[in-house]
Amino acid sequence: MTPQITVLDAGGQYCHLIARKVRELGVYAEVAASETQASSLAGRKGIIISGGPSSVYDPGSPTIDPALLQTGIPILGICYGQQLMAHLLQSGSVQKGDKGEYGFAQLDLTASDSLFRGVSGRQQVWMSHRDLVVQAPDGFEVLATTATCPVAAMGSTARRLYGVQFHPEVAHTPCGKTILANFLFGVCGCTQDWDPAGQLRSLEEHIRQTAAGRNVFFFVSGGVDSTVAYTLCLRALGPDRVHGTYVDTGMMREGETEFVRTQFAALGARAFFVEDARERFLSALAGVIDPEQKRHVIGEKFVEVQQRILESEQYLDGQWILGQGTIYPDTIESGGSAKADLIKTHHNRVAGIQRLIDAGRILEPLSSFYKDEVRAIGRELGLAAELLDRHPFPGPGLAIRCLCTGQEASPEQVDEGWILPVRSVGVQGDSRTYRPVLAVETIPASEDQVADLTNRRPDVNRIVGVAHTCGPLAGLKVTLAQLTADRLERLRHADAIVRRLSLESGFDRTIWQFPVVLVPLGIPQRPDSVVLRPVDSVDGMTAQAVRLPADLLEQMVRELMQVEGVAGVFYDLTNKPPATIEWE
Ligand code: XMP
Repeated sequence: MTPQITVLDAGGQYCHLIARKVRELGVYAEVAASETQASSLAGRKGIIISGGPSSVYDPGSPTIDPALLQTGIPILGICYGQQLMAHLLQSGSVQKGDKGEYGFAQLDLTASDSLFRGVSGRQQVWMSHRDLVVQAPDGFEVLATTATCPVAAMGSTARRLYGVQFHPEVAHTPCGKTILANFLFGVCGCTQDWDPAGQLRSLEEHIRQTAAGRNVFFFVSGGVDSTVAYTLCLRALGPDRVHGTYVDTGMMREGETEFVRTQFAALGARAFFVEDARERFLSALAGVIDPEQKRHVIGEKFVEVQQRILESEQYLDGQWILGQGTIYPDTIESGGSAKADLIKTHHNRVAGIQRLIDAGRILEPLSSFYKDEVRAIGRELGLAAELLDRHPFPGPGLAIRCLCTGQEASPEQVDEGWILPVRSVGVQGDSRTYRPVLAVETIPASEDQVADLTNRRPDVNRIVGVAHTCGPLAGLKVTLAQLTADRLERLRHADAIVRRLSLESGFDRTIWQFPVVLVPLGIPQRPDSVVLRPVDSVDGMTAQAVRLPADLLEQMVRELMQVEGVAGVFYDLTNKPPATIEWE
């Protein structure tokens, strides 16, 4: 299928999100390297240049073939994409920024243009940038401004070239979809040609072709992606040719193994096995503190366990290939899109799995789909809503929600609150950060105030509110902590309480995911604290912290403070960016 729209990847982690949004509007889009020659893009109805972490002034920063600007194909530059257009075109000017702007901003339209048809004068938009355009190029009109951006949107109607500083592709820009639709249908003249749910037949055909007579072996997790991928294979190849093993890593949530067993029985799976690898994972993780190191250890263990199973079950005789539920975003945040900074290594893309991919013995039928597209396929397959609506759960499991430390330290009081000496992963301006957390006792009333705090304190990437502690914060300490069976059990217990209360109250249905995190902050008899991290998101690429209803929070605190070893309960107030959903 020839894409009507090509998204040129300038290294933003939002790059595929743009393509996904375009597809959501029913227009088939693909992603290509930013430097793709204009000649090979002939025939496209439009081009979108993505955002990215670079500055146009950095040596070697992503660029586009300048000839593209002369082809007459409509172009929309987003964030870095807009800066690049201004930089490449005569008399446009980009100003270097050092602090940047991350979060919500108010957009004011300053001219009427078809790009903003149906969008009212003042709008909330999402910003994530350092540099900004201060002078639109010759022949361009400034279409919108914000308090900090004199050129928040610009356009040349005659040349059909447009740029926006904000991110229309994220859910936090409510008018973003209208703007993208205006660009696709109004400016480019695209037609609707894409629907993932209508593709079952071709997906099954693709599976049969890739399997080429071989059988498929799956490591299933019970999550939406691997279950949909597995079900597609069952349909395409029949139950005798598709095996599934669930590896119990010991990093799972309470009751998970039984849930998965029941689901697969209902699917009609004939060969479903559970591998108990709890001891092996735990001993490999002993003493590992660094998040990336944890992910690598888990990834390598998975491959090791997998290899053992493949050997013992004789899956290596060439008659079998490995099936996986990998979806697009799994590859994006591992630096899978050409230039995206590495934010986190996802366990299914570490070296061991890569070797299987390189040998061509892998089947990933969902690797070009986004989460909501996978759900649409799942619905088409007739899978239960209970399964399709499950919150995503990360492959490395509770391991990346159980923070470890190698040194003792105390919280430090600052003007805004307390700096907790535990670090978590964040993403700022498309780059990975690993920074301490700010705890505030007076909870900011609005999103804007939280954003303001994160902009004011670049030394932290996350802000938590204090829900309850067993004594004054000043008396709590971060102590040496490893990933032990005891701490995992503590976390599992806390997680089960939160999940039960969240499900019972119906709160669960209103959010995307609810990680519960254990941090080694406490007193000798109660060495850990629990952090609640309810977030809303569309696909995990960006996320909004969700405030818990007061009575639900109170009930959670009451039950969590009964858990052995728990000294306090905090809740995470930070959006992604600048934080990530998971803490590690
Ligand atoms: P972050 O923490 O990067 O998470 O904002 C985005 C989404 O990805 C999930 N996640 C993972 N999923 N393997 C997975 O399959 C992983 O290693 C992994 N790490 C994070 C996370 O739960 C969230 O939904």
